[in-house]
Amino acid sequence: MAPQNIYILGIESSCDDTAASVIHNGRILSNVIANQKIHEEYGGVVPELASRAHQQNIVPVVTQALKKANITKDQLHAIAFTRGPGLMGSLLVGTSFAKSLAYGLDIPLIDVNHMQGHILAHFIDEDGYNKPPFPFLAMTISGGHTQIVKVNHYFDMEVIGETIDDAVGEAFDKSGKILGLGYPAGPEMDKRAQLGNPKAYQFTKPKIDGLNFSFSGLKTGILYFIQNETKNNPNFIAENINDICASIQHTIIGILIDKLKLAVKETGIKHIAIGGGVSANSGIRKALKDGEQKFGWTTYVPKFEFTTDNAAMIAIVGYLKYLDGDFAEQNVAASARLKI
Ligand code: KG4
Ligand code: ZN
Repeated sequence: MAPQNIYILGIESSCDDTAASVIHNGRILSNVIANQKIHEEYGGVVPELASRAHQQNIVPVVTQALKKANITKDQLHAIAFTRGPGLMGSLLVGTSFAKSLAYGLDIPLIDVNHMQGHILAHFIDEDGYNKPPFPFLAMTISGGHTQIVKVNHYFDMEVIGETIDDAVGEAFDKSGKILGLGYPAGPEMDKRAQLGNPKAYQFTKPKIDGLNFSFSGLKTGILYFIQNETKNNPNFIAENINDICASIQHTIIGILIDKLKLAVKETGIKHIAIGGGVSANSGIRKALKDGEQKFGWTTYVPKFEFTTDNAAMIAIVGYLKYLDGDFAEQNVAASARLKI
């Protein structure tokens, strides 16, 4: 039987969100995130600014997470933190903070792989949420990642496909930038796509063998298309923005679904769990639901707050590792390119 009354603090600082969460056994008591607005002005994450903002945010965010969970730091059993992958300067802030806190409280320190966090977020206890059964396929789609992972068990995972260049979120954000949308462009692209015709324009899908992805060619194709059209009609974007967004989104979703179909075919696994900020996209959600009818898939989409970068997913991994007695030493180092 699992030990009872285990409180773990999770800390996430791999990119531009400073986050902390308290988990009690498998249930989330608090999930606090400080987003860094500063990057919007630059149209992308600026690593030095991210690191500085983490330093400013980490103490208030952790304090708030404990307060919301209604516990004191002395009640914690372990500190879990994101070891990688991510931006080194950002990871260092969370790593150093977690080490000091665990040392000061004399409790175990648990290192967490951010990508495993996105996947194991599906195992947070939530009323009415069905957890995926092993083995399942996890597709993590965000501004930083695009991966398909075969998950045999909690800590037995195999990356079977990933992007060789841009992440899918970048495909949304960079093509949105070409259209003059704000950063990040994904949510607005999604809203406009719902008002437009997805078949209005055709964009070439990349030809990448196997389960890997590529999005940089699509971005270039969109850039040339827009440059060409605006030469003939300077108001082309303004007049057709919804159709352009719908067509871009349709192409991106087509790329994701084609690879998922191939992954299901190759593995014989029909349970599909998604995570990452792009899983908020209404088009991908619909395509996954359609896949349930068309291909007999069962799909799993966690609560939105557990899909974008967050610390609840770090806390659940911390809890699962705690049950295994899998702890880190004080000399554990952040790792920007940590693999699953
Ligand atoms: O997981 P996330 O919050 O952070 C990381 O990148 O790790 O994901 C952010 C990404 C951005 O690229 C954003 O444009 C995209 O998720 N995104 C969306 C939508 N909501 C967020 N993309 C398409 N449709 C959406 N509704
Ligand atoms: Zn992430």
